[in-house]
Amino acid sequence: MNLLRHVAIIMDGNGRWGLKFKNSRNAGHKAGLKTVEKIIKETINQNINFLTLYAFSTENWKRPKKEINYLFNLLESFLKNKIDNLHKQNIKLKIIGEKKFSNKLNKLLINAEKKTLKNEKLQINLALNYGSKNELLSAFTNMKKKNYKFTEKNLNKFLHTKNLPDPDLLIRTGNTHRLSNFLLWQLAYSEIFFIKKLWPEFNENDYIKIIKKYKNIKRNFGNINE
Ligand code: IPE
Ligand code: IPE
Ligand code: MG
Repeated sequence: MNLLRHVAIIMDGNGRWGLKFKNSRNAGHKAGLKTVEKIIKETINQNINFLTLYAFSTENWKRPKKEINYLFNLLESFLKNKIDNLHKQNIKLKIIGEKKFSNKLNKLLINAEKKTLKNEKLQINLALNYGSKNELLSAFTNMKKKNYKFTEKNLNKFLHTKNLPDPDLLIRTGNTHRLSNFLLWQLAYSEIFFIKKLWPEFNENDYIKIIKKYKNIKRNFGNINE
């Protein structure tokens, strides 16, 4: 049975779900937040230590202003309403990506990180304004500035994911088979599950089924599978 320490999720399909059932992409984002809560709960039940959620990519700035504003308002109210609850559950929140938002949101994010810094039941990495290519380029630039040798071990120290194990498992909902600039380095040996369901339709049972399958996969890491 494989250990499962770190799950990464590309939460895709909110917009399509919203258009299909509520005639509004933004309604899909709101519904997607309920799935986030369900999955956090189940991640705790499963004793998983790290959960990395892709919420906004560096490429998502191409979207209409109205949708971007809606998403960040949703995030603001989520943080305001839920951070105490997350803290009580001993959850640590970390933002991966560049915090280049409104002053108000930047502050909320920094405060949420500070408040939960010492928690240790589960670490949630929220990927916001995250792009793997940017992450790698700035890691190499900073390594060069500080005269670090380009080694795997050193690179890991300069990534947003420093001190984390690589994801064991990547799940992407929304019936799309691509990585969309997510954790390109860190996913080198992750087990990948592409799921047809849209993110607001995804639930604990789907998650549990994937975890069961994952646990029985023979992971070779280049070795032979005997
Ligand atoms: C993922 O859902 C959430 C974000 C990118 C913020 P989408 O908004 O990409 O939903 P679809 O893929 O358009 O249905
Ligand atoms: C990936 O979804 C980003 C997030 C889930 C936050 P997208 O919907 O932005 O990906 P593409 O554009 O279809 O590749
Ligand atoms: Mg999408």
